[in-house]
Amino acid sequence: MDTSDVASDLSCVLFTKEQIAARLAEIAAEIDVDYADKNPLLVGVLNGAVMVVADLSRAMKIHCEMDWMAVSSYGSGTQTSGVVRILKDLNTDLHGRHVIIVEDIIDTGLTLSYLMQNLATRDPASLKIMTMLRKPAAVQVELDIAYVGFDIPNQFVVGYGLDYAGHYRNLHDIGVLAPSVYA
Ligand code: PRP
Repeated sequence: MDTSDVASDLSCVLFTKEQIAARLAEIAAEIDVDYADKNPLLVGVLNGAVMVVADLSRAMKIHCEMDWMAVSSYGSGTQTSGVVRILKDLNTDLHGRHVIIVEDIIDTGLTLSYLMQNLATRDPASLKIMTMLRKPAAVQVELDIAYVGFDIPNQFVVGYGLDYAGHYRNLHDIGVLAPSVYA
């Protein structure tokens, strides 16, 4: 799906698919250096991180593996509570593995804070975070994030894995959802 297909639903485009691909190529090159000969395990957090894992991994030139977690945040409405339930756990034993958790967005940081604590108990050799987007103004928990695609303002963004009511994940670009869509 292109921006032109849903143009009236977006206030603006923040990042085009070309900008996203260029930034991912830079991060992939960093990971290639940082994880040379380490066979990192990319842990994608479903559903939003599917696009990021798919594109980041293919931009990398070193071997890696992939696994997936699905989590659900307890809380009312769109508010993240920080209490996370694991809906789908990893198939991979993390003991001795170099793990990179891959996210589409870090908002409050509560989900990742929980995931970091949880995965750290599984004795990985290392544990780092890569996120495509980060909202500095929304952060409630400070996290050490190794790789950040872009910092964005505290607005409702969709596209490239990010949804509103299940839609817009398949939009190539990342844009701000027009308030008229959810008002
Ligand atoms: C999004 C995102 C993170 C979380 C970040 O997932 O993928 O997992 O919210 O929010 P936080 O920093 O405030 O904890 P979401 O719950 O929307 O599920 P989805 O990936 O299936 O869209």
